[in-house]
Amino acid sequence: MEQISMEKMVNYLKQYGFIFQGSEIYGGLANTWDYGPLGSRLKNNVKDAWRKRFIQQRQNAYEVDADILMHPRVWEASGHVGSFSDPLLDCKECKTRHRADNLINDFTNSSKGDAMTEEEMMDFIKENKVPCPKCGKSNFTDIRQFNLMFETQRGVTKDRKNRVYLRPENAQGEYVNFLNVQRSMRAKLPFSIGQIGKAFRNEITPGNFTFRTIEFEQMEYQTFCKKGEDEALYNYFKEYGKKFYMDLGLPEEKLRFHDHEKLAHYAKAACDIEYKFPFGWGEINGTHNRTDFDLSRHQEYSSVSQEYLDPDTNEKYIPYIIESTYGLDRTILALLFNAYEEEELEDHTTREVLKFPPFLAPMKISVFPLIKKYHSEKAREIYNMLCNYFMVSYDETGSIGKRYRRADAIGTPWSLTVDDETIKNNTVTIRDRDTMKQMIIPLDEVVEYVEKRIKF
Ligand code: GAP
Repeated sequence: MEQISMEKMVNYLKQYGFIFQGSEIYGGLANTWDYGPLGSRLKNNVKDAWRKRFIQQRQNAYEVDADILMHPRVWEASGHVGSFSDPLLDCKECKTRHRADNLINDFTNSSKGDAMTEEEMMDFIKENKVPCPKCGKSNFTDIRQFNLMFETQRGVTKDRKNRVYLRPENAQGEYVNFLNVQRSMRAKLPFSIGQIGKAFRNEITPGNFTFRTIEFEQMEYQTFCKKGEDEALYNYFKEYGKKFYMDLGLPEEKLRFHDHEKLAHYAKAACDIEYKFPFGWGEINGTHNRTDFDLSRHQEYSSVSQEYLDPDTNEKYIPYIIESTYGLDRTILALLFNAYEEEELEDHTTREVLKFPPFLAPMKISVFPLIKKYHSEKAREIYNMLCNYFMVSYDETGSIGKRYRRADAIGTPWSLTVDDETIKNNTVTIRDRDTMKQMIIPLDEVVEYVEKRIKF
């Protein structure tokens, strides 16, 4: 089936309260998006699913919630001050700014640009007269490196000493707390520290909606291990990540691994999981073998030993780190594209439906009085009762058919209709979003019916 276009998706998500343009009434702020009531429910459901798989169901796994602002030396130690930059150039004709590697990748329809040095990129662009995507001419400035970190000041003076950064990744909050977690939890290697939180990057290139934004959320997971155990764990987390995405309902044929040739400054091996978006394959997760780079650097820059004392062998060493990082916003975008279907029905009308797995659906069930005048009191009572268990919506306007369509459009798995039979016999009609079949069940079985089916 043909995928929904990006433009249509953006409008759809606005219309139904999932995602709005950031600061919209001021004309928007480029590459910022706000999650509405349903989008933020969806986000929380994905976070819950991640927590279950990565913290609750794994042994020796701990979650932290570190501050966004960290000591500026953290970012010197991590290498971000020195080398977290994009190779940018400007079109001299139309004054638009572009990433050199992206220009080459788009021009060659490959990831060729990812493996090139700055000089190689410049030569390639000149030799092949790579055109500006905006005006079509090929007349660019030299490449300049732009650091992606957002800076701000603490205190009252704009002194260099007071400079702090909004974190560009969660990971460092986990690394600087490695010993705190290990000691307080009496953790033995290998163990993992996970964190869900915001990260900020001064991205200037076009964003493809929430795929590339300046403020985004990551679900990061760092596994600390002994050197020698790193390669097996790296392969394990690649597969674990793919399995997690398939558990979220993404089909295997729309997921692929992309092993990196060009590695970030901290990595010995890196592999992305990519999802097939309408605009092409895009990274949603990254697994990295970061070796002992990060903890060694923190030891060097803080002068605090980061060594682990192995209680079984009495050896002391700096652990290796296998990182698996999940972009929450990109995961949400993949889930939305995957869930959307426009279906032609038997009566030749169409319906738009978001086929989320029930555990991800923002609303689990919607309650409708068949006839407002007669059934709304009972329906309200049922709504109030069900709200104690899961997210429920209530809709009493328009025909039942229209109310079903609205529930389908936001992906609510079940609708419950209250009618005369409910008042007489305490039974309700439950309609299934995907099959559109209806069945009658006793009211006091509804909670169990839903709870059984929303388990992850
Ligand atoms: N700690 C390692 C790290 O941050 P990364 O590959 O730069 O690695 C991890 O980012 C994930 O964060 C990516 O796989 C992607 O899903 C997400 N991500 C990165 N930059 C993003 C952006 N500008 N907007 C939205 N998501 C982004």
